[in-house]
Amino acid sequence: MPQGIPEEIIDEIRQRTDLVGLVGEYLKLERRGKNMVGLCPFHSEKTPSFSVSPDKQLFHCFGCGASGNVFSLIMQMEKLTFPEAARFLGRRSGVNIPERRSVSPAEDDLKERVFKLNHLAARFYAYCLHNTTPGKNALEYLLKRGIKQETIELFMLGYAPADWTGFFNFARKKGVSPDLMVQGGLVSPGREKGHYDRFRNRLMFPIANISGNVAGFGGRALEEGEKNGPKYLNSPETPVFDKGSMLYGLNLAREEIRRSKKAIVMEGYTDVITAFQAGIRNAVASLGTALTAEQGRLLRYQAETAVTAYDSDSAGEAATWRGLAILQASGCLVQVAVLPEGSDPDSYIRQYGPESFVKLIDNASPLMEYRLQQLKRRFNLASDQGRINYIEELMPFLMAAVNQVEQDFYLKRASEELGVNEEALRSELKKRRGRSGRYREQEKKEQPDEQEKITARPEEKTIISLMLQSKEIAEEARNLLQLEFIEDPKIREVIEEIWDLSAGETVLSAEKLLNRFEDQEIIKLITEAVTKPLWQDLPPLVAKRNIEDSIKKLHKNWVNKKLRVLRKKRESYEAQGLLDEVNKLLLEEQELLFKKDGDPYR
Ligand code: CTP
Ligand code: MN
Repeated sequence: MPQGIPEEIIDEIRQRTDLVGLVGEYLKLERRGKNMVGLCPFHSEKTPSFSVSPDKQLFHCFGCGASGNVFSLIMQMEKLTFPEAARFLGRRSGVNIPERRSVSPAEDDLKERVFKLNHLAARFYAYCLHNTTPGKNALEYLLKRGIKQETIELFMLGYAPADWTGFFNFARKKGVSPDLMVQGGLVSPGREKGHYDRFRNRLMFPIANISGNVAGFGGRALEEGEKNGPKYLNSPETPVFDKGSMLYGLNLAREEIRRSKKAIVMEGYTDVITAFQAGIRNAVASLGTALTAEQGRLLRYQAETAVTAYDSDSAGEAATWRGLAILQASGCLVQVAVLPEGSDPDSYIRQYGPESFVKLIDNASPLMEYRLQQLKRRFNLASDQGRINYIEELMPFLMAAVNQVEQDFYLKRASEELGVNEEALRSELKKRRGRSGRYREQEKKEQPDEQEKITARPEEKTIISLMLQSKEIAEEARNLLQLEFIEDPKIREVIEEIWDLSAGETVLSAEKLLNRFEDQEIIKLITEAVTKPLWQDLPPLVAKRNIEDSIKKLHKNWVNKKLRVLRKKRESYEAQGLLDEVNKLLLEEQELLFKKDGDPYR
């Protein structure tokens, strides 16, 4: 049971939150029969298997098994704990959650404290930018680069002073513990004593998460030179900051991305800022790394198409190349805009203006097209070895094609480039299809860690499902089923909770049941049980027959298993000549056998 927040409040939030609307904020849904379906946000897929039931207020993905109610959705989507998700939805639905009555474990609100600290830091850096002499130099630099005052404010840009303890001293005065500052990645403990600021004499770019909370910072050195450290320094991993799962600017770009169904992916903070200022408001930046699957998913929630607009010099790099494949694997339609030598979006927009940049984006090449061009440039197609290498690299791309049409189209194109018979290429592709393509493997590895799997027998699933359909059936099951028939303790727990609920409630609610668990595997089991069409809306008599049969089967299984154990024991006693023991066991076996053949429930 989720600790801390009273159950009535949880109920209230649930009643006020419509799952369909909530899911709709993350992805597009279409009606299919009674349900709504869309592309699953929790795994990569190209055809929708994520289903939302408006009646039951539950979601279930038939592809990856993710499932649950409004709370589970937010927990998984926003990476929150249950209490955090409840607060999130509480705010959204206007339900006030009283402050925690009991002291919760420190870790529980560590995230919240780090967010608050980051917010404080962002305000401090902004203050320094506008109100200190060295800060004003930094401000001057920004203005000279064409970034306007209002943009500076919108992106909360700031300046970290050069002395070693500017932020540390400020935050100490505000009562922040040095320990929290270290955990937030803003200061480091000194080698001998004291603490020093991580960011010094840098232009500061607060990095907000999708809800607009500052999760971390990027700091740009204002002076070049080795002693000033790297050009850009980011926050380290903290409880709220993980570079690979964030996109700079997404909180501001989200709206326009959803409207236009298109996201522009850039490299730099300044690229996004300049674009935004120029009215191009669907741009985000990855944080100095190749795109990750997590970022791909973030984009895919909002956009159908992702257009990359990278610095021209990084376009050919292996990491970029890989990032594009990952983006495609996440289900986005990927296009590549090619910038002229030496430009990045920031400099391009300043030099040629936003209209010209928009044209570049509109004319971006489909990823596959772009790859063919790159391959053609890299390999000498006049030589045998060149052609072999070309084919070797091409095959995984063809296998990762969005669909058959795309695959055929580019297979044809490649065969023309190569001067090779199309059929020859096709059979090469067929040969490989058995092995898994490189990119698909990657896709698999990126799946979230699994919790301990539940092994539910089909009968157990049927029982849970039917019990959840009516109190009468739950009662019936209670009379027939002994918990020892069930092996997996997690399943036993679910059944016990159902009985517990059915004792108190007038109507059994699967949602209420869900809120008693935090284990994703259990949530999956329950949700599947109430959404799988096979088990729904059975006439009461059929349901009754089904549950009796299922329980009988479980009973039989249980008896057989016991018998096997007894037999083994008996055989070992026989071998040792312990006749008394043997006889005792024989009697037990007889009894069990009688129970199994005779129907114990008649
Ligand atoms: N980056 C980084 N660490 C570095 C260099 C770059 O994290 N040492 C990331 C930053 O997010 C940066 C992006 O990669 O914004 C692009 O780098 P670069 O093109 O060098 O920076 P610009 O954004 O173009 O910055 P500026 O225009 O101020 O030179
Ligand atoms: Mn750049």
